[in-house]
Amino acid sequence: MFQKKKFVAAKKVTAPTLAPTATKQEEGEGEGSPSKYPELLRGFRDILSDEQGRWNLVRDTVRKFAEAYSFDRVELPILERADLFLRTLGKGTDVVEKEMYIFTDPSNRSVALRPEATASAARAYINHGMLDRPQPVKMWYMGPMFRHDRPQAGRYRQFNQVGFESFGVDEAIVDAQLIVIGVQMFREMGLDVKVEINSIGTSECRTAYLAELVSYFRAHRAKLSEDDKRRLQKNPLRILDSKEEATRELLKEAPQMLNWLDEKSKEHFMKVLEFLEEMEIPYVLNPYLVRGLDYYTHTVFEFVLAEDQGELSQSALGGGGRYDGLVELLGGRPTPACGFAIGIERIVKALEVKGINPPERPAPKVFFAQLGDASRRVGLKLFEEFRKAGVPIAEAFGKNSLKSQLENANKLGVELTLILGQKEVLDGTIIIRDMESGGQEIVDVKKVVALVLRKLAREEEPVIPSGSAVASS
Ligand code: HAM
Repeated sequence: MFQKKKFVAAKKVTAPTLAPTATKQEEGEGEGSPSKYPELLRGFRDILSDEQGRWNLVRDTVRKFAEAYSFDRVELPILERADLFLRTLGKGTDVVEKEMYIFTDPSNRSVALRPEATASAARAYINHGMLDRPQPVKMWYMGPMFRHDRPQAGRYRQFNQVGFESFGVDEAIVDAQLIVIGVQMFREMGLDVKVEINSIGTSECRTAYLAELVSYFRAHRAKLSEDDKRRLQKNPLRILDSKEEATRELLKEAPQMLNWLDEKSKEHFMKVLEFLEEMEIPYVLNPYLVRGLDYYTHTVFEFVLAEDQGELSQSALGGGGRYDGLVELLGGRPTPACGFAIGIERIVKALEVKGINPPERPAPKVFFAQLGDASRRVGLKLFEEFRKAGVPIAEAFGKNSLKSQLENANKLGVELTLILGQKEVLDGTIIIRDMESGGQEIVDVKKVVALVLRKLAREEEPVIPSGSAVASS
């Protein structure tokens, strides 16, 4: 059981200090002596610029899809009352039992760093009277989640999710469209995924199924681990999630949820599958897929890499499902809903393994080299003019020698270098150097932006061979 005590905040807020609040040793997780430098907590990481190109690819793709499918962006708080998650995610789930960052805040309230955001989205839906708006209400979010998970490949304690949630419509097309959005987003990023899918029906048909499941596993109780025995007692559906070898073997003969679905649930599920087939979305029926959270009803699904990428293929890139009872559970009117979330860290890793690495920002095409403070002053202004004209430009304002600035320009692979010395400042001119030919020309500094724009545009023009059909048409 996760030990709450470690995270109980001091009642009185004292002045912040720079000293880390807990070393690895104090957390009982690290080995060796504490470093003399501040260290990251386990399962937390810095995301540096070498990954930002892939992060931008995810962020930009997601935003494009959200806009195309009319989902509205919401920003939900990272800290919520702990009760919101305790009531909705399920008592016997790993997230609630072991992984919540839960502590008492300075006002003596039990609060939690959000382990996921669907509960918050449902809370916001109720709090802001969205029940009375035209339905569906479609929202999307992006941001950090926190789970005190066991750190390993693809598992962090702070990780980022993008989520799409659709409230107010119970039609199977909603489930299918969300799955289509997920799959197409992955494809657009360059990742091929398949969908694992199951239906866990309504809470009524689940009760009948669970009675059967419990009696099956009771007969094989001796073969179960302590953890699975506890699951069987507390939250038997979770046993389908078990990673224990013996349990997975027993599951092969266990009763399957799909056989306990009532007619309406069956019909709903069949429709979802038909829509997916219509859209040629590859799916695999997985009768053991129940997802790690308790609010789900009917359709549940996960996005997994279609190609084998070793360890990475074992964890889903995203998952979701229908949660028709959640809004009511939080005190709202009965409201059907469906959604999914994808984990950015796992996606970024999969992109890296596939060698997809877009640049973080456009490479500079122009370099500004200066000689002395007078030309630095002009340079500052010129920089702004180039920025406004949309030309990526680089500089080394801190350097004094022209040679080392030109070396910089060469390394960056720019097309043009602008050189501004004392004489040029006095004359109101500037030198444009073509880095490929080495040719230089002196131009009026006031016209340099326009001239550079023209030169760069010429570089990008396709070369038309003389005497081609285009020339004569
Ligand atoms: P979830 O399956 O718990 O669902 O998380 C969704 C995704 O978040 C996972 O597939 C994974 O990519 C990422 N993820 C989860 N835990 C970690 C971790 N420790 N480290 C790195 N990535 C992780 C939910 O959270 C639901 N709220 C999804 C949903 C939305 N259902 C309906 N609407």
